[in-house]
Order: sequence, then C-alpha cells, then structure tokens
Amino acid sequence: MNDSISHGTGSIGSGAAEMPPLVDPARMGGAARPAASSKPSAPAVPTGDHDRVSEPIPFTRTEASSARDTVDAPLPGAPAEVKLGPTGRPMPVLPEPKPVSSHGPARVIAMCNQKGGVGKTTTTINLGAALAEYGRKVLLVDFDPQGSLSVGLGLNPHDMELSIYNLLMERDVTLDEVVVPSGVPGMDLLPSNIDLSAAEVQLVHEVAREQTLARILAPAGKDYDVILIDCQPSLGLLTVNALTASDGVIVPLECEYFALRGVALLKTTIDKVTERLNPRLTIDGVLGTMYDGRTLHGREVMERLVQAWGDTVFHTVIRRTVKFSDSTVAGEPITTYAGSSAGAEAYRQLAREVLARCLDG
Ligand SMILES: Nc1ncnc2c1ncn2[C@@H]1O[C@H](COP(=O)(O)OP(=O)(O)OP(=O)(O)O)[C@@H](O)[C@H]1O
Ligand SMILES: [Mg+2]
Repeated sequence: MNDSISHGTGSIGSGAAEMPPLVDPARMGGAARPAASSKPSAPAVPTGDHDRVSEPIPFTRTEASSARDTVDAPLPGAPAEVKLGPTGRPMPVLPEPKPVSSHGPARVIAMCNQKGGVGKTTTTINLGAALAEYGRKVLLVDFDPQGSLSVGLGLNPHDMELSIYNLLMERDVTLDEVVVPSGVPGMDLLPSNIDLSAAEVQLVHEVAREQTLARILAPAGKDYDVILIDCQPSLGLLTVNALTASDGVIVPLECEYFALRGVALLKTTIDKVTERLNPRLTIDGVLGTMYDGRTLHGREVMERLVQAWGDTVFHTVIRRTVKFSDSTVAGEPITTYAGSSAGAEAYRQLAREVLARCLDG
C-alpha cells in the first residue's frame, strides 16, 4: 500500500490549489494586477479537462451574460429552437426507465466530496428514493459517523442495536442482521452512528484495511440494483474504503464559489484509488446542488463547472429550496414528503439520468 493514501483520519496529498476569483480582476480595475496586466487573457479551458478545475480560469463576464437575469435564460448565440438546460447545454430527453423483473447485480455508487454541507446525504436519500420509485431495489449505506442519513430517515442514533460499526469490526455479525427498512418501499438502510468514528481508528491496524467495506457489502450485490454510500466530509480511511467498494462516484457540488475549491484534491484521491486499489472505479457524474439560477453568480459557477468537467456534469441540477430541510426534519425523502415539489421532480430526473448513464445503458 502506497503511503500517500491516508491512514486513520488523515487526508490525502497536499492541499488543493487556491481558486482564482470568478471575475477577471483586470475587469475590476486592472491596476491592481500589474504582473498579469501585460498578458493576454488565458484561453478557454478545454471541455473535460478535470485536472484544471482548480487552475486560474479567467471568467469573462460579458455584457450579454450579465444581461441574462431571468431564470435559465438561453446563452447568447444559441439557436432559438434548442432548449438549453440549466447547465447551458441542450437538455437531452431522458427515457422513462423500464420496469425490472429481477434484481442485481448492484452498481455501488459513493456520494463523495470532502467539503461539508454540499448535499451528499440529501442526494443519497432522495436519489435512492427516486430510484426505488422506478422499481429499483436500493440499499443506502450510512458511512458517516454523524449518522445524518440514518437520522434523515427517521432513525434515532441512540436506539440502534447494531450499526455498520458492528458489521465492520465483528466477524460474526451478518449484513441481514444490520440492514433495516428505510420506510420507503424497495429501499433499505445500513445505519450508522458515532461508533463508526472508532472504526476509522481501529481499521488502521487491520490487514487489507481499505477493502473492509467492499468485503462486507459483497453479499448485498445480488439482492439490490443500486447501493448508494453516503460518505463523510473527509478523505480519510472511511472514504477510501467507500471508493474501494464502489463502481462509480457521484460528486455533489454546491453551486457556490468556495465549493469549487478542493475539487482537484478529490479528483487526485479518486485517481489514486483507481490506480492502486480499485481499477473499475469511474466518476459517474458531478451534480450541481443548491443552484440558484436567478443569480449571475450561480450561473457563472455552473458555467465554470461545465468548462472544467464537461459532460461529466449531470444535466440535472438541484435547486436551492427549504423543502429539503423540512423533509429532513420529517425524517423522510422529499419524494414522499412533498412528492409533487420541484425538488422531488429534480431527484426523479436525476434518477432517470443516472439510470440512462450508468445503470440501464
Ligand atoms: N438543494 C438544497 N436546497 C436547500 N437546502 C439544501 C439542499 N440540499 C441540501 N440542503 C440542506 O443543506 C444542509 C446540508 O445538506 P447535506 O446534509 O445533504 O450535506 P452533506 O454534504 O451530506 O453534509 P456533510 O458533509 O455534513 O455530511 C442540510 O440542512 C440540507 O437539508
Ligand atoms: Mg452528509
């Protein structure tokens, strides 16, 4: 095991490069930037160049783009008849998922971003519930000692007899003993609570410590169509375990300037796990969350995400709405708490996109 992969609760690699301002400082009074003032502005970053997501990408705010102050107004120069989605690309028609008559083998997807509060848990619950509505058998794995996924589905963290901690650390505990129904038909949960933080320390001394989660999830692969792992906001050993157990990663990203920082570090971690531990791991998609299309800032961040990650960015974006916090308090997914709300519809659309992109395809 290469020692640059994290041990214990440490993180991987060095800090991510600092992000430049979104707006080109030259346009905000060029005198403040003498060193760069003689240089021509940098060329546009090629679509799909992930590694450059944290490099300076001067963001030229054109008059035309500044004038776009209506929700999802078309980009300048776009043919009038092409319907553009909120990411600025033509919106594909997402097929209605076909019913399935049998279940498995499961695709395991980690919801991963070391930044806190970007919508990992919200996406795990609601994408899972939307996939279950489409007839897929779903297992949610709470792999965060905060236990937010379990609490968000109405479980009391102090009342758990067994949690994923017991499954990780005790050889005689089986998956069936720990899995509980989530309250949503077709969706089960492997719950967690603060005990899991001890596992992160104890696993350091285990043989094949990075493969522990993959080993305990293996028997579930035949019973479910999708297993979604809600990661904690760190790149420590638990997250490396989640990535090692997964076929794909979804990276939820808040559509806000600071959220873009650190994405390069996450990409480096995913690359290291792919190279050294799990060659089948792919990035299934980057998901813009808490998007506010009414603000120029929100649209600029979205444009920049697409510049850097290209078609890896999901066409679906999740808008900011207080309904998500309300449904968490109610202990249920938005798809049942407010089934006809825009938030519920957005996660159904994401489910169709995920199915078309990496499950039914
Ligand atoms: N689209 C949204 N609009 C408004 N609020 C949202 C949205 N998505 C999530 N939230 C709220 O933001 C907060 C953080 O979301 P969530 O817990 O899903 O993030 P997280 O990435 O899992 O956080 P952590 O890193 O701490 O685990 C929660 O209160 C949640 O209800
Ligand atoms: Mg969370």
